[in-house]
Amino acid sequence: MAAAAAAASAFAPVPSLRLKPTYSTLRFLSLYPRPTTLVPQSKPPPLSFTPFLPRRRRSFCTLVAAALQSGGTKPEISETWKTETRAGEFRKKLKVVDIKGGPDEGLDRLGQTLAVTGWVRTFRVQSSVTFIEVNDGSCLSNMQCVLGSDAEGYDQVESGSITNGASIWVQGVIATSQGSKQKVELKVNKIVVIGKSDPSYPIQKKRVSREFLRTKAHLRPRTNTFGAVARVRNALAYATHKFFQENGFVWVSSPIITSSDCEGAGEQFCVTTLIPSSREVSDSPVDGIPKTKDGRIDWSQDFFGKPAFLTVSGQLNAETYATALSDVYIFGPTFRAENSNTARHLAEFWMIEPELAFADLNDDMACATAYLQYVVRHVLDNCKEDMDFFNTWIEKGIIDRLSNVAEKDFVQLTYTDAVELLLRAKKKFEFPVKWGCDLQSEHERYLTEEAFSGCPVIVRDYPKEIKAFYMRQNDDGKTVAAMDMLVPRVGELIGGSQREERLEKLEDRLDELKLNKDSYWWYLDLRRYGSVPHAGFGLGFERLVQFATGIENIRDVIPFPRTPGSSEF
Ligand code: 4AD
Ligand code: MG
Repeated sequence: MAAAAAAASAFAPVPSLRLKPTYSTLRFLSLYPRPTTLVPQSKPPPLSFTPFLPRRRRSFCTLVAAALQSGGTKPEISETWKTETRAGEFRKKLKVVDIKGGPDEGLDRLGQTLAVTGWVRTFRVQSSVTFIEVNDGSCLSNMQCVLGSDAEGYDQVESGSITNGASIWVQGVIATSQGSKQKVELKVNKIVVIGKSDPSYPIQKKRVSREFLRTKAHLRPRTNTFGAVARVRNALAYATHKFFQENGFVWVSSPIITSSDCEGAGEQFCVTTLIPSSREVSDSPVDGIPKTKDGRIDWSQDFFGKPAFLTVSGQLNAETYATALSDVYIFGPTFRAENSNTARHLAEFWMIEPELAFADLNDDMACATAYLQYVVRHVLDNCKEDMDFFNTWIEKGIIDRLSNVAEKDFVQLTYTDAVELLLRAKKKFEFPVKWGCDLQSEHERYLTEEAFSGCPVIVRDYPKEIKAFYMRQNDDGKTVAAMDMLVPRVGELIGGSQREERLEKLEDRLDELKLNKDSYWWYLDLRRYGSVPHAGFGLGFERLVQFATGIENIRDVIPFPRTPGSSEF
């Protein structure tokens, strides 16, 4: 361990950033309540929530009916059309976060009459008063609603319509709370059950395992943990766009269906209409698939006239736009048919893939570092309540861990040095290490968690044999200008490289790997017409959410995980 630490200190931090994002103090407006004057209502609105909708709202059907009733005389549609059939003005709905999320935690709204909608988390009926905890997903906190028997709609409490999971509309006055958990509560004067919840509702107060909740993926966002994960995931996506937009990158959509295999690993899902559609799938005969004379599948009869797959990476397409728009990024779903049943692999996951023109590996590493620090800082600044929750219940110390990541330099070292360090480690690895081997999760985690005490580590210059065809060959003839960023708990978070921009070298590499040059004709064209040094990386978005929340299993950071044998929901 001491030797490892000594070795660690010998490695330089990543070069200074080409990209210096401005850490603007962006805050969600919704956290700081604007004074909203709400008109106290007299009638409960069962379907349209009148406080937030414009008064005049007649449907098109009403107009048509009126026109038909007007007995042949031409309706004066033009006037009514202008005033009556416009869509209503959109107004942001008042959410629990707007009430309780500000610095005063709701005390600034004392005495205000307002309405809240949400789902019943828990409730307690006492002899004189009923407490209902309502959550609308806008924040971790519930709105504590307190009802006396004089509240309009109280009969719904008596008849047992208020149960866990039911959706309700409540109106009342904000008052100081007697309880220690919150500063304010809602003294309810009116309650309407919007949708009852059957007693079989599986999300009850007692704690249940994450495995169990995976079988209830449609209801699990109503729990504290999954609500918090969803909000942090959203904040990370927002920060991702913000970072790249602030740094002059253009967002590009790459195709989801493709005929090329970017990583060359053959882990693609086939997209075909040769097998009948889902409606007929259960009784489709195997010999219905068209074959060539020599007994192979006749792809010429398939939808695209040749085999097509779900993309494993949008990188090749990103390169085409980077060599026109300079700096671009892709943020979209990718698919891998690898049979990996681990806590960090999904068959469908989202990837963020920036591609920088006129850039080398150092620029790439600097961009990856700046990006990660930016999004981590964003989450720490903007998701305080959820991060406190993770810090208490999911991973103690996560806030300190992330604060370090946001502030400290990352470590970089070559693959050769990393192997040396692993060989010297006083730790027995399941997979032995030698130069040329692919680093396994246990090696990656040792480097970042132990050798460098939790600091993100960038390993660069990997042997060319274990990396993809498009990576730029280094002068030593053995390695390529690749880089992987390794982080604690997750291991590989980012994989990237400088791309081979020299036409001949790229063609030779395709030949060496026995890849069909013809199918890469357009990719090779980029090297024919104004080729430039360029580099990029791919970051697995779900691994980033794991990293930022401390959630152990990747299946719990994506709403509907797709893994071998599991595509429910
Ligand atoms: O290292 P990978 O395979 O790199 C590429 O696909 C490059 N074409 C990206 C690029 O340079 N534009 O994948 C990139 C990242 C990994 O570091 C990992 O975080 C994530 O994608 N990843 C997965 N995440 C979840 N489940 C899987 N099965 C994943 N495979 C890769
Ligand atoms: Mg990789």
